[in-house]
Amino acid sequence: MKQEKILIIGAGGQIGVELTLALRKLYGNENVVATDIREAHPLLKDNGPYYILNAMDVKGTHEIVKNEGITQIYLLAAMLSATGEKAPHKAWEINMQSLIHILDLGVQEKLTKIYWPSSMAVFGHSTPHDGTPQKTIIEPQTVYGISKYAGELWCQYYNQRWGLDVRSLRYPGLISWKSEPGGGTTDYAVEIYYEALKNKKYTSFLSENTCLPMMYMDDAIRGTIELMEAPVEKLKTRMAYNISAISFTPKEIAASIQKHIPDFTIDYAPDFRQAIADGWPRSIDDTAARTDWGWKNNFDLDKMTEEMLQHLKVKLMQAV
Ligand code: SER
Repeated sequence: MKQEKILIIGAGGQIGVELTLALRKLYGNENVVATDIREAHPLLKDNGPYYILNAMDVKGTHEIVKNEGITQIYLLAAMLSATGEKAPHKAWEINMQSLIHILDLGVQEKLTKIYWPSSMAVFGHSTPHDGTPQKTIIEPQTVYGISKYAGELWCQYYNQRWGLDVRSLRYPGLISWKSEPGGGTTDYAVEIYYEALKNKKYTSFLSENTCLPMMYMDDAIRGTIELMEAPVEKLKTRMAYNISAISFTPKEIAASIQKHIPDFTIDYAPDFRQAIADGWPRSIDDTAARTDWGWKNNFDLDKMTEEMLQHLKVKLMQAV
């Protein structure tokens, strides 16, 4: 079997950093080429090949694929829900064009697999909010959600028309300590841990009872790699799979933090992101992922809080 060589586009982002590290462990540092529009993230320095690359640069991407003998691509660069609403046309352009370039490249260069993340943002007000099914009414309300749903259809189209093996997950909000999120509606659930440790108080931009599906990054990374390694015949959909772990409100995450920091306080000042969150599921049914390729989450809210506080405490101390 040919040795796989992986290209990651958007390696400096919230998912990219941890996914690059995990794939380097699995495939060997030299077999995972990280790229991002910015200088290398500190955690990606000196542990494998790195290029500065704009996801919109078709020629530059093609050159790296050729020169490095790339066989798989993970395309992670995107504008998320909150920043996307501030610049809808730009978000559409970045999220869609980069995907179509990579799908074309996949066909042209006969790549073995492509990974592209989707999101629970594909769902909207008309979708059932509790136990949102894999197959349901999908009418996204944000430009980010529209681009993710259109992207899923493009992935399915390239699979059906060209046999391209593109795989995708509809992530819930992702919580991580190694890398920071940027521009999402679920970012509050990461910020809250930093603020709890730094200032013992946090003002949430979502209201106290806004319940959203979330997942600890360890689970998300393991799930992504498990999906990518699943035998092709196990995959029963070529749209993105629903995956879920935990659902909680700002009030509940605050209570989980208070178990470790009793004098932590939270207050609420909902902004434009509240309307985005109100359109999203409260919980997601991921039976298809569990049945087809064995998805399972490991972290609940309290276990995640314990890990987040423990790691961030060290990280913040090292930063001083
Ligand atoms: N975390 C994303 C966002 O909030 C959802 O996919 O935009």
